[in-house]
Amino acid sequence: MSQPEYAAEGTQAIGAVVYFSSASENTARFMANCHLQDEGINVYRIPLRPKEPALEVREPYIIVVPTYGGGNPKKALPVQVKKFLNEPENRSWIRGVVAAGNTNFGEAFCAAGDIISRKCKVPFMYYFELMGTPEDQAKVRKGVLDFFQQHPEHASDSVTADTVASGTVSGM
Ligand SMILES: Cc1cc2nc3c(=O)[nH]c(=O)nc-3n(C[C@H](O)[C@H](O)[C@H](O)COP(=O)(O)O)c2cc1C
Repeated sequence: MSQPEYAAEGTQAIGAVVYFSSASENTARFMANCHLQDEGINVYRIPLRPKEPALEVREPYIIVVPTYGGGNPKKALPVQVKKFLNEPENRSWIRGVVAAGNTNFGEAFCAAGDIISRKCKVPFMYYFELMGTPEDQAKVRKGVLDFFQQHPEHASDSVTADTVASGTVSGM
């Protein structure tokens, strides 16, 4: 099992977020600004380069991904994210998705969220543009916390790998 980039403060994590960000680092900046570790959330980063050790997550998580199809919704998922989710052990712990993108891409705006939601059968919880606004940060922080607090069956210490995710998140 991999170590979080930002480990939850306190003795016990209440949930986790996994994110990907390319060299432009917009999503990385967004995640850093959310300070989720201060709220008891482990934050893991999917590696950018194939030479880095693969990420292995074995606790329930919400994934945060930028869209990279260049306008083609079928190609919206970054290969690194595809590789991570194609590992059955990683995939079994996903509980929701938040997507990022750029409205210049029209219909393909944040299409990565639609793909993950459909393929993994989890709620598409929120979307934001580029590195997000302070309002986006506040909503994601609250939404992630509410999700793990309102769904204790998804909390880090009380879930079996094949629990089915369902429902939507209030406030996001
Ligand atoms: C080559 C390329 C293709 C992109 N394709 C899309 C797209 O199809 N839909 C979308 O909403 N955003 C698209 N974007 C915008 C990115 O999702 C956006 O810049 C995001 O903030 C990048 O996050 P990152 O810096 O964390 O990698 C694209 C960006 C690039 C550079």
